[in-house]
Amino acid sequence: MSPARRAALLDWASVGKRLILEDDYDAEYRYDRQPIGSLQGLAPERVIYAGSASKTLAPGLRLGWLIAPGSLAGQLAAVKMANDRGSASLEQLALADFLEAGEFDRHLRRMRAVYRDRRTVLLDALRRHAPQLTPEGASAGLHVVAWLPDGADEARVIDRAAGLGVRLPGMARNYLGSAPRRPGLLFGYGRPGEREIVEGVLLVAQALRGG
Ligand SMILES: Cc1ncc(COP(=O)(O)O)c(C=O)c1O
Repeated sequence: MSPARRAALLDWASVGKRLILEDDYDAEYRYDRQPIGSLQGLAPERVIYAGSASKTLAPGLRLGWLIAPGSLAGQLAAVKMANDRGSASLEQLALADFLEAGEFDRHLRRMRAVYRDRRTVLLDALRRHAPQLTPEGASAGLHVVAWLPDGADEARVIDRAAGLGVRLPGMARNYLGSAPRRPGLLFGYGRPGEREIVEGVLLVAQALRGG
């Protein structure tokens, strides 16, 4: 969000008992912008900040964290207990050790460069081979949304791509109810290497041509 919208949101939260849930799940991988400070740091009594190891280490770990106003600690602990009786201790201790030893920071520094290169390869391949797509949201994270031309049949493109050996999700499932849907494809680059990314985009381009 722009600084003005962030300020407006903090203003909104300053009234009554309002809280902001800041889901900063992609914060660690930002490529062509300076890191953005969290809202939580600006209003620690109004913001619950959520982070996750799912993008930085592995989603299968199922570890994340909250930074919350102290007044909510008891309630949050009770909800967590009711939800799953707490996350596994061994994994938490291993992660704490990894953090304290500086290994997590080293891992992030190394992976930032790897993902930045993959992202560049993906954007180049899209520009070259699928110019009818409009990529968006490439400045952070591990995926890029590529909008299809208006009126395109998203499900058909996805089916064709799957038939050619590339499985990728569309944007339709992210809309609620009968909201107008803009057709688009989601390209993740957390897992495939650079060569696979180019091969995948070539196949998606073929799917777009109706092949
Ligand atoms: C909006 C959002 N928040 C948080 C997460 C992280 O989820 P989890 O930590 O449950 O794996 C994701 C994962 O993709 C996400 O898309």
